[in-house]
Amino acid sequence: MTSQIIDFLLARNSAPIPDLQEPAPDDSQIRTILTAASRVPDHGRLAPWRFILYRGAARVRVGERLADLAEQREGPLSEGRRNQELTRFSRAPLVIGVVSSPKDHPKIPEWEMFLSAGAAAMNLVLAANALGYGTNWITNWYSDVPEGRALLGLAPHERVAGFVHIGTYSGVAPERPRPEVDALYSDYAGPWEG
Ligand SMILES: Cc1cc2nc3c(=O)[nH]c(=O)nc-3n(C[C@H](O)[C@H](O)[C@H](O)COP(=O)(O)O)c2cc1C
Repeated sequence: MTSQIIDFLLARNSAPIPDLQEPAPDDSQIRTILTAASRVPDHGRLAPWRFILYRGAARVRVGERLADLAEQREGPLSEGRRNQELTRFSRAPLVIGVVSSPKDHPKIPEWEMFLSAGAAAMNLVLAANALGYGTNWITNWYSDVPEGRALLGLAPHERVAGFVHIGTYSGVAPERPRPEVDALYSDYAGPWEG
Protein backbone atom coordinates (compact mmCIF):
# COMPACT_ATOMS: atom_id res chain seq x y z
CA MET A 1 0.00 0.00 0.00
CA THR A 2 2.68 2.45 1.04
CA SER A 3 4.62 2.00 -2.17
CA GLN A 4 1.46 2.61 -4.20
CA ILE A 5 1.10 5.98 -2.51
CA ILE A 6 4.75 6.79 -3.12
CA ASP A 7 4.40 5.78 -6.78
CA PHE A 8 1.35 8.03 -7.03
CA LEU A 9 3.25 10.98 -5.55
CA LEU A 10 6.30 10.41 -7.75
CA ALA A 11 4.18 10.29 -10.90
CA ARG A 12 1.94 13.26 -10.09
CA ASN A 13 1.66 16.00 -12.69
CA SER A 14 -0.78 18.57 -14.01
CA ALA A 15 -3.05 18.11 -17.00
CA PRO A 16 -3.41 20.82 -19.67
CA ILE A 17 -6.55 22.81 -18.79
CA PRO A 18 -8.15 22.65 -22.26
CA ASP A 19 -8.01 18.84 -22.05
CA LEU A 20 -10.01 18.64 -18.82
CA GLN A 21 -13.41 17.38 -19.89
CA GLU A 22 -16.72 16.27 -18.39
CA PRO A 23 -17.46 14.47 -16.22
CA ALA A 24 -16.31 16.48 -13.26
CA PRO A 25 -16.40 15.04 -9.74
CA ASP A 26 -19.98 14.66 -8.52
CA ASP A 27 -21.27 16.24 -5.32
CA SER A 28 -20.21 13.37 -3.12
CA GLN A 29 -16.73 13.29 -4.65
CA ILE A 30 -16.43 17.06 -4.25
CA ARG A 31 -17.25 16.61 -0.57
CA THR A 32 -14.54 13.95 -0.28
CA ILE A 33 -12.04 16.22 -2.04
CA LEU A 34 -12.87 19.15 0.23
CA THR A 35 -12.72 16.97 3.33
CA ALA A 36 -9.21 15.89 2.35
CA ALA A 37 -8.31 19.50 1.58
CA SER A 38 -9.45 20.53 5.05
CA ARG A 39 -7.36 17.88 6.76
CA VAL A 40 -4.09 19.76 6.69
CA PRO A 41 -1.63 21.09 9.22
CA ASP A 42 -3.19 24.26 10.62
CA HIS A 43 -1.46 25.95 13.56
CA GLY A 44 -4.07 26.87 16.16
CA ARG A 45 -6.90 25.11 14.30
CA LEU A 46 -7.99 28.36 12.68
CA ALA A 47 -9.09 26.92 9.32
CA PRO A 48 -7.60 29.99 7.61
CA TRP A 49 -8.94 28.97 4.21
CA ARG A 50 -12.19 28.30 2.43
CA PHE A 51 -13.31 26.99 -0.96
CA ILE A 52 -15.44 28.44 -3.76
CA LEU A 53 -16.93 26.18 -6.42
CA TYR A 54 -17.24 27.54 -9.94
CA ARG A 55 -19.38 25.20 -12.01
CA GLY A 56 -22.17 25.24 -14.56
CA ALA A 57 -23.34 28.64 -15.79
CA ALA A 58 -21.44 30.49 -13.03
CA ARG A 59 -18.21 29.73 -14.90
CA VAL A 60 -19.52 31.61 -17.93
CA ARG A 61 -20.68 34.59 -15.84
CA VAL A 62 -17.23 34.81 -14.28
CA GLY A 63 -15.71 34.91 -17.75
CA GLU A 64 -17.99 37.78 -18.80
CA ARG A 65 -17.02 39.77 -15.72
CA LEU A 66 -13.32 39.07 -16.23
CA ALA A 67 -13.55 40.21 -19.85
CA ASP A 68 -15.20 43.46 -18.68
CA LEU A 69 -12.55 44.00 -16.03
CA ALA A 70 -9.74 43.29 -18.50
CA GLU A 71 -11.29 45.86 -20.85
CA GLN A 72 -11.48 48.47 -18.08
CA ARG A 73 -7.81 47.92 -17.36
CA GLU A 74 -6.43 47.51 -20.87
CA GLY A 75 -8.86 49.38 -23.12
CA PRO A 76 -10.73 47.70 -25.98
CA LEU A 77 -9.79 44.01 -26.28
CA SER A 78 -9.11 42.16 -29.51
CA GLU A 79 -11.55 39.34 -30.21
CA GLY A 80 -8.93 36.76 -29.27
CA ARG A 81 -8.08 38.50 -26.04
CA ARG A 82 -11.77 38.88 -25.14
CA ASN A 83 -12.41 35.20 -25.83
CA GLN A 84 -9.47 34.29 -23.65
CA GLU A 85 -11.06 36.06 -20.69
CA LEU A 86 -14.58 34.85 -21.50
CA THR A 87 -13.46 31.23 -21.28
CA ARG A 88 -11.09 31.50 -18.33
CA PHE A 89 -13.33 29.54 -15.98
CA SER A 90 -15.27 27.44 -18.47
CA ARG A 91 -12.47 25.41 -19.99
CA ALA A 92 -12.65 22.77 -17.26
CA PRO A 93 -16.00 21.50 -15.97
CA LEU A 94 -15.14 22.40 -12.38
CA VAL A 95 -12.88 25.01 -10.82
CA ILE A 96 -12.37 25.11 -7.08
CA GLY A 97 -10.98 28.32 -5.66
CA VAL A 98 -8.80 27.77 -2.62
CA VAL A 99 -9.00 31.02 -0.69
CA SER A 100 -6.52 32.03 1.96
CA SER A 101 -8.65 33.62 4.64
CA PRO A 102 -6.38 34.66 7.51
CA LYS A 103 -7.85 35.08 10.97
CA ASP A 104 -6.87 37.60 13.65
CA HIS A 105 -4.69 35.84 16.16
CA PRO A 106 -2.36 37.26 18.79
CA LYS A 107 0.33 34.59 18.37
CA ILE A 108 0.05 32.72 15.09
CA PRO A 109 1.78 34.52 12.22
CA GLU A 110 -0.18 35.20 9.06
CA TRP A 111 2.60 33.53 7.08
CA GLU A 112 1.71 30.21 8.70
CA MET A 113 -1.92 30.72 7.72
CA PHE A 114 -0.85 31.27 4.08
CA LEU A 115 1.19 28.07 4.20
CA SER A 116 -1.79 26.15 5.53
CA ALA A 117 -3.87 27.38 2.58
CA GLY A 118 -1.16 26.08 0.23
CA ALA A 119 -1.30 22.74 2.00
CA ALA A 120 -5.09 22.70 1.56
CA ALA A 121 -4.70 23.36 -2.16
CA MET A 122 -2.16 20.56 -2.54
CA ASN A 123 -4.32 18.09 -0.63
CA LEU A 124 -7.23 19.10 -2.81
CA VAL A 125 -5.18 18.41 -5.95
CA LEU A 126 -3.99 15.05 -4.68
CA ALA A 127 -7.46 13.98 -3.58
CA ALA A 128 -8.91 14.83 -6.99
CA ASN A 129 -6.05 12.96 -8.67
CA ALA A 130 -6.58 9.97 -6.38
CA LEU A 131 -10.21 9.86 -7.50
CA GLY A 132 -8.95 9.66 -11.08
CA TYR A 133 -9.37 13.30 -12.17
CA GLY A 134 -6.87 15.55 -13.88
CA THR A 135 -6.06 18.88 -12.24
CA ASN A 136 -4.27 22.12 -12.87
CA TRP A 137 -3.60 24.72 -10.15
CA ILE A 138 -3.34 28.26 -11.42
CA THR A 139 -3.73 31.80 -10.13
CA ASN A 140 -3.42 34.18 -13.10
CA TRP A 141 -3.64 37.99 -13.34
CA TYR A 142 -7.07 38.37 -11.73
CA SER A 143 -5.75 36.86 -8.49
CA ASP A 144 -3.29 39.73 -8.16
CA VAL A 145 -5.88 42.45 -8.74
CA PRO A 146 -8.30 43.51 -5.96
CA GLU A 147 -11.19 43.96 -8.44
CA GLY A 148 -10.48 40.50 -9.85
CA ARG A 149 -10.57 38.92 -6.42
CA ALA A 150 -13.79 40.77 -5.58
CA LEU A 151 -15.61 39.59 -8.70
CA LEU A 152 -14.47 36.05 -7.98
CA GLY A 153 -16.13 36.20 -4.55
CA LEU A 154 -13.22 37.01 -2.23
CA ALA A 155 -13.36 39.51 0.62
CA PRO A 156 -10.75 42.31 0.64
CA HIS A 157 -8.56 40.62 3.25
CA GLU A 158 -8.54 37.28 1.39
CA ARG A 159 -6.06 36.05 -1.22
CA VAL A 160 -6.13 33.34 -3.84
CA ALA A 161 -4.07 30.26 -3.02
CA GLY A 162 -5.18 28.73 -6.29
CA PHE A 163 -7.93 28.08 -8.77
CA VAL A 164 -7.74 24.33 -9.20
CA HIS A 165 -9.20 23.25 -12.52
CA ILE A 166 -10.58 19.73 -12.40
CA GLY A 167 -11.98 17.33 -14.98
CA THR A 168 -11.59 14.02 -16.71
CA TYR A 169 -8.26 13.78 -18.48
CA SER A 170 -7.64 10.96 -20.90
CA GLY A 171 -4.28 12.04 -22.29
CA VAL A 172 -0.78 11.59 -20.98
CA ALA A 173 0.60 14.85 -19.64
CA PRO A 174 3.98 15.73 -21.11
CA GLU A 175 6.74 15.15 -18.59
CA ARG A 176 8.56 18.30 -17.62
CA PRO A 177 12.00 18.61 -16.12
CA ARG A 178 12.03 18.24 -12.35
CA PRO A 179 14.51 19.78 -9.95
CA GLU A 180 17.63 17.82 -9.15
CA VAL A 181 16.87 16.84 -5.59
CA ASP A 182 20.50 16.31 -4.65
CA ALA A 183 21.12 20.02 -5.17
CA LEU A 184 18.25 20.95 -2.89
CA TYR A 185 19.34 19.63 0.42
CA SER A 186 22.31 19.63 2.69
CA ASP A 187 23.10 18.47 6.15
CA TYR A 188 22.89 21.25 8.65
CA ALA A 189 26.20 22.75 9.58
CA GLY A 190 26.10 25.51 12.17
CA PRO A 191 28.08 28.71 11.57
CA TRP A 192 30.56 27.57 14.22
CA GLU A 193 31.65 24.72 11.97
CA GLY A 194 33.03 27.09 9.34
C1 LIG B 1 0.41 29.08 -6.27
C2 LIG B 1 0.59 28.60 -7.68
C3 LIG B 1 0.11 29.36 -8.72
C4 LIG B 1 0.26 28.94 -10.05
N1 LIG B 1 -0.23 29.73 -11.03
C5 LIG B 1 -0.07 29.35 -12.31
C6 LIG B 1 -0.60 30.16 -13.36
O1 LIG B 1 -1.23 31.18 -13.13
N2 LIG B 1 -0.39 29.74 -14.62
C7 LIG B 1 0.30 28.58 -14.90
O2 LIG B 1 0.48 28.25 -16.07
N3 LIG B 1 0.78 27.78 -13.93
C8 LIG B 1 0.62 28.15 -12.66
N4 LIG B 1 1.11 27.35 -11.65
C9 LIG B 1 1.88 26.12 -12.01
C10 LIG B 1 1.01 24.90 -12.25
O3 LIG B 1 0.14 24.63 -11.18
C11 LIG B 1 1.83 23.62 -12.41
O4 LIG B 1 2.60 23.44 -11.28
C12 LIG B 1 2.73 23.63 -13.58
O5 LIG B 1 1.96 23.82 -14.72
C13 LIG B 1 3.52 22.32 -13.66
O6 LIG B 1 2.75 21.27 -13.40
P1 LIG B 1 3.08 19.98 -12.53
O7 LIG B 1 4.35 20.14 -11.81
O8 LIG B 1 1.93 19.96 -11.58
O9 LIG B 1 3.06 18.89 -13.53
C14 LIG B 1 0.94 27.73 -10.33
C15 LIG B 1 1.40 26.95 -9.26
C16 LIG B 1 1.24 27.37 -7.96
C17 LIG B 1 1.76 26.51 -6.83
